[in-house]
Amino acid sequence: MMKSVPETPRRFTQLLHGGDYNPDQWLNRPDILREDLRMMPLANCNVMSVGIFAWTALEPEEGVFTFDWLDRIIDDLAAHDIRVVLATPSGARPAWMAAKYPEVLRVGPNRVRNLYGVRHNHCYTSPVYRDKVRLINARLAERYGKHPALLLWHVSNEYEGECHCPLCQEAFRLWLRRRYTDDLQRVNEAWNTSFWSHTYTTWEQIESPAPHGETLVHCHNLDWKRFVTDQTVDFMCHEIEPLRQGAPGVPVTTNLMGDYPALNYWKLAPHLDVISWDSYPFWHVGPAGYSTLNSVRDGSEPLWPDRLEAHWGLFVAFMHNINRSLRGGQPFLLMESTPSVTNWQSVSKLKRPGMHRLSSLQAVAHGSDSVMYFQWRKSRGASEKFHGAVVDHAGHEHTRVFRDVAELGQDLRRLTPVAGSATPVEVAVVFDWENRWALEDAKGPRNDGEKRYLATCIAHAAPFWTRGIPFDAIDMDQDLSRYKLVIAPMLYLLRPGVADRFEAFVKAGGVVVATYLSGWVDENDLCFLGGFPGPLRRVLGLWSEEIDALAIGETNAVRFGPGNPMGLSGEYPAHIFCDLIHAEGAETLATYAEDFYAGRPAVTVNAFGKGRAYYHAARMGERFLDDFYGVLANDLKLVRALPVDLPAGVTAQRRSDGERNFIFVMNFNEQPRCVDLTPDGAFTDMITGEAASGALTVEGFGVRVIQGKACNN
Ligand code: GLA
Ligand code: ZN
Repeated sequence: MMKSVPETPRRFTQLLHGGDYNPDQWLNRPDILREDLRMMPLANCNVMSVGIFAWTALEPEEGVFTFDWLDRIIDDLAAHDIRVVLATPSGARPAWMAAKYPEVLRVGPNRVRNLYGVRHNHCYTSPVYRDKVRLINARLAERYGKHPALLLWHVSNEYEGECHCPLCQEAFRLWLRRRYTDDLQRVNEAWNTSFWSHTYTTWEQIESPAPHGETLVHCHNLDWKRFVTDQTVDFMCHEIEPLRQGAPGVPVTTNLMGDYPALNYWKLAPHLDVISWDSYPFWHVGPAGYSTLNSVRDGSEPLWPDRLEAHWGLFVAFMHNINRSLRGGQPFLLMESTPSVTNWQSVSKLKRPGMHRLSSLQAVAHGSDSVMYFQWRKSRGASEKFHGAVVDHAGHEHTRVFRDVAELGQDLRRLTPVAGSATPVEVAVVFDWENRWALEDAKGPRNDGEKRYLATCIAHAAPFWTRGIPFDAIDMDQDLSRYKLVIAPMLYLLRPGVADRFEAFVKAGGVVVATYLSGWVDENDLCFLGGFPGPLRRVLGLWSEEIDALAIGETNAVRFGPGNPMGLSGEYPAHIFCDLIHAEGAETLATYAEDFYAGRPAVTVNAFGKGRAYYHAARMGERFLDDFYGVLANDLKLVRALPVDLPAGVTAQRRSDGERNFIFVMNFNEQPRCVDLTPDGAFTDMITGEAASGALTVEGFGVRVIQGKACNN
């Protein structure tokens, strides 16, 4: 039985299809605006995001507002049955504003104020900027809040970056005063400033980290990053307030950027009604493109040596799952993707036939209720004029890209029942922003980028993706009780209460997998005294005494002896990190085979209450992770989208409305693959309407979406 199916409010009753539309760049070309309206229905679009970066068109001079063009655009879109996602313009600002109020511009970590230019170049603290944003947002809400075409607010655009101006320094000190109850001594203790005599004696001495100043006090760095997130959230809430006041009931989103490292998205999520994100995978670029994913390859055999797109498929799957998890499984939106190429990737490779559909439906398979693009029409000048768009500079619909888009729009219409449906999940991988910050900032035991936190989390998720078992990607504070299995690779930093929740989860019958580099520091990046893995020591039943770091190419081996309860056998290579642990109650499943620590435990399991907690002392490769999680998946009877073994490079994902299952079978190989549906009986192909049973062929870079009665296989 499934443990739980999350309640998902059915916000959208159809799948959205459309994208960023910038008529403000074409106001002198009414002929082109007319063409847009002619072609949008041909592309089967039902939504457009307008107003992003349109501040100058809306307020050409301070206090002078020009909404007439936007009135017309929104009315015209509505007349063509196209709903509107309306953006606030704060992602870029007019030149007049920067000239008159220099404080709106950002100051870099080197304390130099930027000149006017680019976008996202603003101070989140600046009272002037906040005033200007509030004013224009209030005007937008007042004018369009009740427009029947308005579907959603799109607040700003891809919040990012930080500002080090005097206003932000002051705000940082205030933030610290709040966090440390106005007690400077507590800051000194948390930051361990007695090291190198860095003790602060007045609040004014504290500044943000700087390349020519402080960079080595880890909790200082951590607190600055926390502050940047909180200040961004504060700014975002400030933006949202007039929208909620002027247009009650209209949902709010902002477009996120996957695993964007500098903002902890879990802090933004509670303030948004809908999560949305912008996805730009590097399809077809070959091994160079996925080298960042290459976490566990050294010293091990790759699972899919020649299936390059599968690596990206897995990476993007993880990103979609983060977005779905951010609001407890609620459907999210794919706010941006490119209909063809980007122009910022090092190689602008065209999508191979089928890839547009595969990449787009992959989002829906993972819980998106939309496929949206950057952008509708290519701009004529400036830095994005060669970025892919639905409408090219040629200006008509007779292009490969337009046809791909139009066909996808048709498919999305046929998939209408999928909108709003849930994704039943039993497995969670913990991917936590603060943990990433602390882990990557730590000096040692590897300083060459080989800690690879994200890639390691993805590697632990891979065995589920290949088996068609959905997983969530959550931070360490989430409720674990809805899962059967929680995997927390390298949980180096533990916030208060986390270990208790892990214990309670395992005690109640849950299964946890943890690894080397766990439980080293507390929320202040101060080492746990008394032995690692700190407060996780009890549930894991072990003590980690030392850790060995291996050079690239160096390996140890982990040996499973006969009769181990997992039924694994033989040796697996270990590399990068080998933790030297003592079992303190945990049972040893495998031992190191080489070096002076040969014979010591390398994989353990601790029975704790009704559940158990596994520990991987060493980093092991894909083959190990696949075998290990294969055993757990069977033991725990984890539900697969289809109860069959899928060919390499093929995955299946399931959404469900409680009565029906919608199963997306996706082939990331260039050649067709066959999936046997026999064991689960009868399905209907949602695109063709035909019955599907027996052998289901999926074209190269193809997707089949089949519908069947909901049942737990
Ligand atoms: C981001 C931005 C868009 C555009 C695209 C280009 O996602 O939000 O405005 O710049 O990148 O890929
Ligand atoms: Zn600032």
